[in-house]
Amino acid sequence: MTLTPTLPAVSPTLPWTRVCAVSDILPGTGVCALIGGQQVAVFRVAGRVFALGNLDPFTGVGVLSRGLTGSYTRDGQTRLKVASPLLKHTFDLETGESLEAPGVRVPVYATRTEGGDVWTGSLA
Ligand code: FES
Repeated sequence: MTLTPTLPAVSPTLPWTRVCAVSDILPGTGVCALIGGQQVAVFRVAGRVFALGNLDPFTGVGVLSRGLTGSYTRDGQTRLKVASPLLKHTFDLETGESLEAPGVRVPVYATRTEGGDVWTGSLA
């Protein structure tokens, strides 16, 4: 079976929104938030916070926030990734790029932490 990813994955505009407390996200995991009508997967990994669209582009199902996080090496650099719990496709946490299908990516959003809270919004 060939799965056609749902493209394009241009990051929709997102209003800056407080998602939760940093401590609400267990290290190495993600949570799902509905922001401006968009499902956003927010991850806390390696002391950093990342926000991606929650929809797995290969299945159209909102599951990425429940994916397993990990790291991989590209060009000698250690980078972070999340694997969709459905078909195990992996996505770079910073760029949203699919590691298996060049050209496929999920939307990525900016994040910041402030007073112990996680905020996410559109990239500048
Ligand atoms: S509702 Fe968001 S992951 Fe289940």
